[in-house]
Amino acid sequence: MQTLSERADALELQMSRDLDAKVAPVKARLYTSGERDPRQPRTEMSEILQRGDHLLMGHDVRLPRMPDKPTLVDFFRLRFGPSAHLLQSARLAKLNGHSEKIIIACLLHDISVIGFICGDHGYWAAAMVAPYVDEEVAWAIQSHQALRFFPDPEIGYAYPETYIRFFGKDFSPEPYVYEAYKAARAHRWYMTGRLITLNDLYAFDPGVKVELEDFTDIIGRNFRQPDEGLGFDHSPAAHIWRTINWPTRAL
Ligand SMILES: [Fe+2]
Ligand SMILES: [Fe+2]
Repeated sequence: MQTLSERADALELQMSRDLDAKVAPVKARLYTSGERDPRQPRTEMSEILQRGDHLLMGHDVRLPRMPDKPTLVDFFRLRFGPSAHLLQSARLAKLNGHSEKIIIACLLHDISVIGFICGDHGYWAAAMVAPYVDEEVAWAIQSHQALRFFPDPEIGYAYPETYIRFFGKDFSPEPYVYEAYKAARAHRWYMTGRLITLNDLYAFDPGVKVELEDFTDIIGRNFRQPDEGLGFDHSPAAHIWRTINWPTRAL
């Protein structure tokens, strides 16, 4: 067992070694698109090369280092933003007596928003988890992208008040979202996707504390964690997890 100060020393040594290697992280075009015209050349890249430094191809020392075989929980702890919305949605699904399938779907439905990309987040989240969860869970996560915009009074789902605040009262989704909604409505798993929206806690309660540990068992039974670690299992989603692990690699 290392003492706290030994661990701090080791960390400092590692960081200075990483810096000695003179490698510089580069932001992908997507990360800066909008703030910057994406068609413009990335000047920081040529600046790095002119200095004689190399481009980063591994861990970014500004980020906490992930274990060699990272788990879903490691990503929650070391890469994802605050997860209260997901934890509280999953808690609500549990309180409402839903199956573990629905609870895990609620727990994971917005992981793209907290860890990867916001736009089309339902599709990205589904792509991230599809190799590791039941097919119905991935389908439901994808479909919540469209379903959340459309009320279903029969089961008590109304258009979220917060969406009026977020997007304005005149907002209406793109035609492709209507088409996705229609297809989801007619799908045999419609209710699974709908239950995500019904337990999606738009206004979360700051008084309620939910911990990820409350869901360890449910994750264990419903998320097939690859032995090689997320990102290293050659699944169709592995590259997404690697990109989250190492977001500033040059290639
Ligand atoms: Fe969502
Ligand atoms: Fe959500």
